[in-house]
Amino acid sequence: MRLLAHVLCFCLALVLAWADPQEAHAHADLDRCQGLEMDAVAVNEEGIPYFFKGDHLFKGFHGKAELSNESFAELDDHHHLGHVDAAFRMHYEDSPSDHDHIFFFLDTKVFSYYQHKLEDGYPKDISEVFPGIPDHLDAAVGCPKPECDEDSVIFFKGHDVYHYNVRTKAVEAKEFKSMPNCTSAFHFMEHFYCFHGHMFSKFDPKTGEVHGKYPKEARDYFMRCSKFSDDSDPVERERCSRVHLDAITSDSAGNMYAFRGHHFLRKDEGNDTLQADTIEHAFKELHSEVDAVFSYQDHLYMIKDEHIFVYKVGEPHTHLDGYPKPVKEELGIEGPIDAAFICNDEHTAHIIKGHTMYDVDMKASPHVAGNERPISLFKSVDAALCNSEGIKVIKGNHFYHFASPMLLVAGRSLPEQHKVSLEIFGCDH
Ligand SMILES: *[C@@H]1O[C@H](CO)[C@@H](O)[C@H](O)[C@H]1NC(C)=O
Ligand SMILES: *[C@@H]1O[C@H](CO)[C@@H](O)[C@H](O)[C@H]1NC(C)=O
Ligand SMILES: *[C@@H]1O[C@H](CO)[C@@H](O)[C@H](O)[C@H]1NC(C)=O
Repeated sequence: MRLLAHVLCFCLALVLAWADPQEAHAHADLDRCQGLEMDAVAVNEEGIPYFFKGDHLFKGFHGKAELSNESFAELDDHHHLGHVDAAFRMHYEDSPSDHDHIFFFLDTKVFSYYQHKLEDGYPKDISEVFPGIPDHLDAAVGCPKPECDEDSVIFFKGHDVYHYNVRTKAVEAKEFKSMPNCTSAFHFMEHFYCFHGHMFSKFDPKTGEVHGKYPKEARDYFMRCSKFSDDSDPVERERCSRVHLDAITSDSAGNMYAFRGHHFLRKDEGNDTLQADTIEHAFKELHSEVDAVFSYQDHLYMIKDEHIFVYKVGEPHTHLDGYPKPVKEELGIEGPIDAAFICNDEHTAHIIKGHTMYDVDMKASPHVAGNERPISLFKSVDAALCNSEGIKVIKGNHFYHFASPMLLVAGRSLPEQHKVSLEIFGCDH
């Protein structure tokens, strides 16, 4: 436990070298929910964060670590992969030659990957590709216009901060007075984050100013865990988390339930106060990690993998006898599914699986999933909610509004993007 406590900090590049190489095996058991300090963090082409720790990599917001060399083999070839110092994705539409390249920094070398392939000629010396930038970096983050005045990369080493102009290659040393030394940094959802230990601060990339109450616990925002630290405030954490929701619904009384991992948020009709609870506590049979939830006639239909659980809404919610049942038996479609919703007092459940939507008439017997049609706007969705305001389709940290299921299916261009944490849960940071 002592070793863990020393070693666990949050960054995609592992900061600490293990004194004993035998201990490298400990990486296989890395648990990001223990509050790891990552070595480096970068967002991939699809916007999915990659967190590097030692010779391992965590993809996305949950799941186990995998070996980094499985995704980026050459990081090993040229250099025994102890850890990655820093990483970032170049995301500048104005620099087509580097757009969407992911750069890794290991000691004195830089590796450039495009579509998971190492580019010809790499690895190169950092001094050759980014003249004026020191070796043995701590962190790096891309900063495109207009967040920075010019398309730039911000490099961190100890207290030193450098703005590197991608076009002119000019380097400007900066002093980010109010910021701790970053061990990793990334640009996510229009914000810039500096990680230090298992904490993080959101900063202004031009000035390094930190506004608001930081540092905050990195796990609370960027990890999906079954347990969080004792001082984590569950309501604050769940409403502000950047981890995607698993499911969301509102019952016939207008109470909203939003599920993520082992937890859910509830907002009662006519009351803006959010409550958080564990799924285990309120929906014991389901335990955790639901895929989709819809509500129909005072019941919550909760789908997890191949099974469906049905709860009568109440205090407490009661699980119906005879459930869980196979999704196939109850809805006439194979599980797992991604999202499901029923609008208002209707009897049609709309089921989304991948980029296909099906309808199930809840009054028919047996239930059959029919009216199969493709949704062209999304390859997949995380959750969907229908209430008197229409449909909210949730994908990652954003949701999109549609007036009807027909318009969701017929849509050919994405409507305005809204933020889940801000506009559904009122988290303003
Ligand atoms: C990745 O690294 C591990 C541990 O160092 C090694 O056993 C494995 O062969 C490597 N895999 C690849 C694909 O290079
Ligand atoms: C930050 O980095 C500087 C070196 O630039 C070092 O002297 C200082 O101790 C570091 N601060 C912390 C809190 O690690
Ligand atoms: C709103 O919900 C909170 C949390 O359950 C509760 O404490 C409060 O009394 C409710 N307020 C109203 C006006 O019902």
